[in-house]
Amino acid sequence: MRMTVFGTGYLGATHAACMAELGHEVLGVDVDEAKIERLRRGEVPFYEPGLPEILLRHVESGRLRFTTGYAEAAEFADLHFIGVGTPQRKGEFAADTSHVEDVVRRLVPLLTSDAVLVGKSTVPVGTAARLQTIADAGVRDGVRAAVVWNPEFLREGFAVKDTLTPDRIVIGLAGGEGGGGVRAGVGAALADFGPAGRLVEEAYAPILQADPCPVIVTDLATAELVKVSANAFLATKISFINAVSEVCEAAGADVTVLADAIGMDPRIGRRFLGAGLGFGGGCLPKDIRAFMARAGELGADEAMTFLREVDSINMRRRQKMVDLATEACDGMLIGKTIAVLGAAFKPDSDDVRDSPALNVAGMLSLKGASAVVYDPQALDNARALFPTLTYASSALEACEGADVVLVATEWPEFVALDPAAVTAVARGRILLDGRNCMPAQEWREAGWTYRALGRGVPAS
Ligand code: UDX
Repeated sequence: MRMTVFGTGYLGATHAACMAELGHEVLGVDVDEAKIERLRRGEVPFYEPGLPEILLRHVESGRLRFTTGYAEAAEFADLHFIGVGTPQRKGEFAADTSHVEDVVRRLVPLLTSDAVLVGKSTVPVGTAARLQTIADAGVRDGVRAAVVWNPEFLREGFAVKDTLTPDRIVIGLAGGEGGGGVRAGVGAALADFGPAGRLVEEAYAPILQADPCPVIVTDLATAELVKVSANAFLATKISFINAVSEVCEAAGADVTVLADAIGMDPRIGRRFLGAGLGFGGGCLPKDIRAFMARAGELGADEAMTFLREVDSINMRRRQKMVDLATEACDGMLIGKTIAVLGAAFKPDSDDVRDSPALNVAGMLSLKGASAVVYDPQALDNARALFPTLTYASSALEACEGADVVLVATEWPEFVALDPAAVTAVARGRILLDGRNCMPAQEWREAGWTYRALGRGVPAS
């Protein structure tokens, strides 16, 4: 089957390569000529485990090609996925949907036969319906461009796996598409929903045949809301445990044990109860803000005001980490050296967008400390964003002469650090664990003072 994918960022590039992996003929489209050039050479412009191999394999096989040409894309296929970015608008909470709109505006006049535009980007509810209006206004006479919404739930670091073996596939179709309004249901047969549904079903058929997952067919608005609600829930779960963390710190309790205990209740579950520096990245922070903004526009602003609290709990953790570091330096950061292990917003990623790790390093530096940062993958991105910080080329090099060692991203190589090796190069003996990931006992036995977010020092 032939298809195009507009946008070649984390989402688009992964989707394009995975669709080729499923056996389809795929054309990736982007306005960024330099990015397209790299992709044509089989290079992935960001770090995503497993993606370089499948991308290269299908660039070489010819099943995956890249272009900046919209006319070529319009001619190539009748199925067009849209995976361009929807960043936070400058100075506002709302999402900027102009890139998605641009794709539709530019593509539809070039279509010469009926086509389906499948939105995958995370958008404010109501965007798909607006895009349908834009499409209807822009198409040639006699041509129909149907907008469908099919949100993506991929996690950075697991993007290939999440795309090829998803937990669920959600498809939002416009009201009349199924010839009688909206039907929802797990495993609903998409083919019943007319030509748009049939094309999408065909695209995902290899996934559904190999390892079936629930397919939820619904209306456009619900499909859009599923995605932002999922991310808002995850953010809330993280902030919940981080709020409890604050109480644990005050009471001398241990949030990690508490999380284990409450997580054993299957209604709660242990995942996303990892207390620490909180969430960052290109999705959760901007998605909760855009959700609040959109709810406000719809007159349901009170419904989402709790997300403001979720956001502030999250941001407070970064400040708390700086406070802990200041305490560890006897109240004075000026002249102190702090090794910051981690710059990416999470392990298995080189993404530093809204990264708690880099944010903490920046605050420490602004307060006069010399923050020496190391990350296994994100150094180039970190350097570009925060050129004034000092960067080391290994964890041990970052720890050389450090008064305090601060773990800000839970990369396995930091967890596995040998305390004796760090002892040999560091000046101080204080380990601050921003992700509750380090083996505390081992470090204590090696003579280190171990402090972590959410693990108060018990009153003696
Ligand atoms: C997220 C969603 O998980 C994914 O479904 C959606 O499609 C895009 O947004 P991602 O941004 O890749 O994916 O990261 P995720 O693994 O969700 O982690 C987000 C942030 O939360 C990271 O900064 C991580 O360190 C933090 N986190 C996660 C915690 O602080 N504690 C946890 O227990 C889990």
